[in-house]
Amino acid sequence: MASQELITQLNEILKHEWTGVAQYSQAGFIIEGVWREVYADRFLGDAKESFGHAQLVGDKIVALGGVPVATRNEIRQSRDLQEVLQFSLEFEAKAVEMYEKALELAEGNRPLVIFLEDILKDEQEGVDEYTKLLRNSSAAGAAATHSAKKSG
Ligand SMILES: [Fe+2]
Repeated sequence: MASQELITQLNEILKHEWTGVAQYSQAGFIIEGVWREVYADRFLGDAKESFGHAQLVGDKIVALGGVPVATRNEIRQSRDLQEVLQFSLEFEAKAVEMYEKALELAEGNRPLVIFLEDILKDEQEGVDEYTKLLRNSSAAGAAATHSAKKSG
């Protein structure tokens, strides 16, 4: 029987994943202008990833004898793309932190540790990806053009 503390933490995670489903879907719906072409699919893909994680975690909570929550936290939204990317990075970083805490509580339960680590890997990929997307791409582009000119 899993500790109540672990089930409570998994439910906090589930709530966060449901928040991700709504937050990323909304970001995908409202993005307009030329960047819609690039980011609408990306955000909807991240909503699907959150849904996939919610499914895994919800099933696991029941397997451990708990009852999954069916609520979410407030979403953060903006029409400013930079801001949406920042919200996304913060969302992914919070997920990493939450799965790490669950991992501490799961210590000694090898299959559960592997289950959580598997998802943690996805969350860290999210952090890495949004970190790269938020880097000053116009400055990077200018540097690339500059070095291309020099070598040409
Ligand atoms: Fe997730």
